[in-house]
Amino acid sequence: KQIKIFCPATIANLSCGFDVLGVCLDNVGDEMIIAKTEEKGVRIKAIIGADLPLEVEKNVAGVAALALIEKLQPDFGFEITIYKNIKAGSGIGSSAASSAGAVYGINALCGSPLSNKELIYYAMQGEALASGAPHADNVAPALLGGFAFIHSYEPLNIVHIDAPEELYATVIHPQIELKTKDARSVLKQTVTLKQAIKQCGNLGGLICGLYTSDYELIGNSLHDEFVEPKRSLLIPNYAQLKQAAYDAGALGGGISGAGPSVFALSRGKEAAEKVAQAMREVVKDADYECDIHVSPIN
Ligand code: HSE
Repeated sequence: KQIKIFCPATIANLSCGFDVLGVCLDNVGDEMIIAKTEEKGVRIKAIIGADLPLEVEKNVAGVAALALIEKLQPDFGFEITIYKNIKAGSGIGSSAASSAGAVYGINALCGSPLSNKELIYYAMQGEALASGAPHADNVAPALLGGFAFIHSYEPLNIVHIDAPEELYATVIHPQIELKTKDARSVLKQTVTLKQAIKQCGNLGGLICGLYTSDYELIGNSLHDEFVEPKRSLLIPNYAQLKQAAYDAGALGGGISGAGPSVFALSRGKEAAEKVAQAMREVVKDADYECDIHVSPIN
């Protein structure tokens, strides 16, 4: 018996929600096949589309799988094949997609004893391997869909928020690899009271906007006091990409996860495609490749 899973890409942080907010992209992601085996434990059979370790302890899907197996103690094992579409170090949750997919599939093959919300903790163990910190803002939306807000890490308390119907994301991935670990190491460990007040206002505004489908409030809340000033320096053409998105009518935008991807949110597919075009124009002469995705959010 085996299961085939779509493992969605995600945008973490959404500017004002560093480590506490993320959203699932409906049409960008990896695929994974997990098969039951007689032999206990977990084996990564193959990874197609990326050069990543097959060794279970060194692979995010493997580590997340081991954490869940330890909990469920099934009397059979699992063999995982991963078809990677999301590039590692892209900022749209590549490691989270694999971690979330592994725990989702294993749980399903065990008869779904845990809820998707309960699986988040186990998927986070894969994230810890990838980034040095077990953050949930990619794995939670990958497992729950829509937006996921991490109200608290200890104890882990996650709130799922449905996305307003017409919300679309545009994401551009300049193909320079930026490791989450490195993008975390440049961050300042302190913020001022003034910055914290602004950030709280924006995060509150964004959450209110999501609940009330207030697109203007959503856009006006997409600002970041904490990480953008440091991380934007690592992203080529960041300011131009963001400005181009605004000029093309985006509600707002910022760095996707740890970068280097840059995201913008728009109202409606047409608007999001216009933003994609404007971003493409910015990088047309760049000496690096770019992937651009336009995705609904649900
Ligand atoms: N919240 C995490 C960070 C997301 O920004 O470091 C990493 O994908």
